[in-house]
Amino acid sequence: MIDRIQQLHDEAAREIADATSSEQLAELRVRWLGRKAELPQLLRGVAELDPSERAEVGKAANQARRALESLLDSRAEALSARELDRDLEGEQLDLTLPGAPPQPVGQLHVLTSTRRELEDIFLGLGFTVMEGPEIDTVHYNFDALNHSPTHPARARTDTFYVSEELVLRTHTSPMQVRAMEAHPPPLYVVVPGRVYRPDNDATHTPQFHQIEGLAVDEDITLADLKGTLLEFARATFGERREVRLRPHFFPFTEPSVEVDVSCFNCDGRGFMADGSRCYLCKGEGWLEVLGAGEVDPAVYEHVPTTDRNAPGYDPEKVQGFAFGLGVERIAMLKHGIPDLRLNFENDLRFLEQF
Ligand code: PHE
Repeated sequence: MIDRIQQLHDEAAREIADATSSEQLAELRVRWLGRKAELPQLLRGVAELDPSERAEVGKAANQARRALESLLDSRAEALSARELDRDLEGEQLDLTLPGAPPQPVGQLHVLTSTRRELEDIFLGLGFTVMEGPEIDTVHYNFDALNHSPTHPARARTDTFYVSEELVLRTHTSPMQVRAMEAHPPPLYVVVPGRVYRPDNDATHTPQFHQIEGLAVDEDITLADLKGTLLEFARATFGERREVRLRPHFFPFTEPSVEVDVSCFNCDGRGFMADGSRCYLCKGEGWLEVLGAGEVDPAVYEHVPTTDRNAPGYDPEKVQGFAFGLGVERIAMLKHGIPDLRLNFENDLRFLEQF
């Protein structure tokens, strides 16, 4: 009996050592240690043996079983490690291989690309870009910009009020005072952003976009404004453009001007080569593009001196110009877009053209 146990053990041990796969090993486990295998049967029969044999045979069979179990376990471990290595080798994934080339899907909205082009022009002229809140106070939107208490733009019909004190900003100009509060002079900033007014027709939407410009330094004159805007006009509409300033009124600039750019469609002539009237400037030769002016000294009075903007904005020491342009207007002029509302309808047939 003892010899048989030894024999079973040796035979099983050899087969286990020779096993070449986890599957094969699982079969061996059943064959040698499963319910119907000889060694476990033998163990179960120990109780019926003669008491003189029982202890010795039981002990030998148990030892043989434990030895085989541990051989099976360590062989299983070795085989599965080898199999894992082999799988990893076979499934190698080279992350440095070029992937499928990205498909060109989508493009920037014409207003986004126009805004970015404009920002780039002013960045190139030394301005920095700032942004500000779309919901702003009556103070920043009107009071600090020198609007009289009865100025018509304050009316409920001309401005979206959020509360008595808060409005959806009607222009980006409230950022003039905010920017000055945050930085000492000299200051050169442009502020792109959404603005809101309760109008809705082919040339007005309740929400549109402006870019505010503000330059404050010493000895800044209208000539600096004109030079800056000439650069902008030529970068946007072509090298041959001229700009012209016409007197106008804004509460927060003095003097105030409206700025025209010579028409790029008819080269400023007002008519085309075939003698027909230019559709774009309607024969004027000029396109109105924005409002601007020298910062009214009264605006500086609304800029309290703080740690951050020390030594503050003394109207006796600093001068500046400001301008505000409509992003939609520039995009529409440039691309011949006939209706402002097209910009906001998300019709791909329209958007894919730019
Ligand atoms: N905020 C003015 C508007 O929306 C434009 C403007 C900006 C005029 C700066 C002068 C200076 O009409």
